[in-house]
Amino acid sequence: MSKPIKTCVLGVGLGGLVFHVPFVLILPQYFTLHAVMERNPASPSRGKAHEKFDGKGSIDMRNVKIHRTLDAVTSDPEVELVVVTTPSETHYSLAKAALEAGKHVLVDKPVTATSQQAKELGALAKSKGVVLYGFQNRRWDSDFLALRRLLALPASSPQSLGDIHEFESHYDRYRAELKGTWKDEPKPANGQVYDLGAHLIDQALVLFGRPEKITAFISNMRGVGSPEVDDNFTIFFHYPPRSGSSHPLTVILRAAILSVRAPQLRYVVRGTRGTFIKYGLDVQEDQIKVMDSPEGILNQPGYGKEPESIWGTVQNFKGEEVISTTWPTEEAGSYVELWKNLGEAIRSGKEQAVKWEESTAVIEMIELAHQSSKEGRTIAVPKA
Ligand SMILES: *[C@@H]1O[C@H](CO)[C@@H](O)[C@H](O)[C@H]1NC(C)=O
Repeated sequence: MSKPIKTCVLGVGLGGLVFHVPFVLILPQYFTLHAVMERNPASPSRGKAHEKFDGKGSIDMRNVKIHRTLDAVTSDPEVELVVVTTPSETHYSLAKAALEAGKHVLVDKPVTATSQQAKELGALAKSKGVVLYGFQNRRWDSDFLALRRLLALPASSPQSLGDIHEFESHYDRYRAELKGTWKDEPKPANGQVYDLGAHLIDQALVLFGRPEKITAFISNMRGVGSPEVDDNFTIFFHYPPRSGSSHPLTVILRAAILSVRAPQLRYVVRGTRGTFIKYGLDVQEDQIKVMDSPEGILNQPGYGKEPESIWGTVQNFKGEEVISTTWPTEEAGSYVELWKNLGEAIRSGKEQAVKWEESTAVIEMIELAHQSSKEGRTIAVPKA
């Protein structure tokens, strides 16, 4: 690669400090952390990111600037890439300002509050000739990678699921209380469908494309906080039989907020010849949170590796019997791949692994799901 991309990260909350700043710091062939934007007056003068990472392992942040305003970021000619990981409601305006200043932009999920805003940003990026990238990191979850390998098995394989007719994907939690962050506020792009649904919907679209119809049940079921901020959902994507199949497909995306279970249920995939069941979630987030130095992402043994205790199970018919076998999660989860692809898209025009149109489609599905839930009916999905 040529020169590393000078990057400014906007937002040093949980998202910024776990999913963004560490990755910019550990990939010097691709990125240099040039600055962070910390606007909160309560933020330590040394900077939250500096406090957390400077001097950890061989991380040296003495040259990383702290910008206190958006103007300081957009008018800093050295900044090439802006990473937007502020509260979701602000993604659109910050990304727009960065694009107008000619910067490449990575936007955390959910990329915007409306699909109209996402389309507008896409057009703006095109007119400026810069890269605009949605942070759909969960495409590199270990169990999603393992699931894709399972679904790619030839029909002749004894573990093949056959034609998939139901795909159920969960992001369940047990949380009786509010989080106490901006996520609880009744603001655009808040609520579980925007937050967790953005991951589940993106994965479903990657696997199966746009559905024909959507039916959704979205609520604030705990009755705590603002009633407008949803905390629980069930979303159905309806697909007609796909080519080569005689069965329709139902995708069920679920997030239960009062689910007492450990590990939580993750996938139930039913096909004409088998069923896959998987519990537990990718381990990267939890590993990064407790790492001494973000360099552990590259060199900690077992990084991204799921414990065998949460590997999935496949059940297939054999004669009259149901045979259970393990489907090992051989893949390590690897959010680094998204960052490398982003770097190559910027420096060498490589095809984006996450296309902006795909992140836009996620927001479109979220809007349709909310509409379905509000109107109490099934909604037809317009053709792309
Ligand atoms: C909450 O979501 C879960 C998971 O989809 C679902 O099973 C449950 O019925 C939902 N509860 C309410 C009140 O919507």
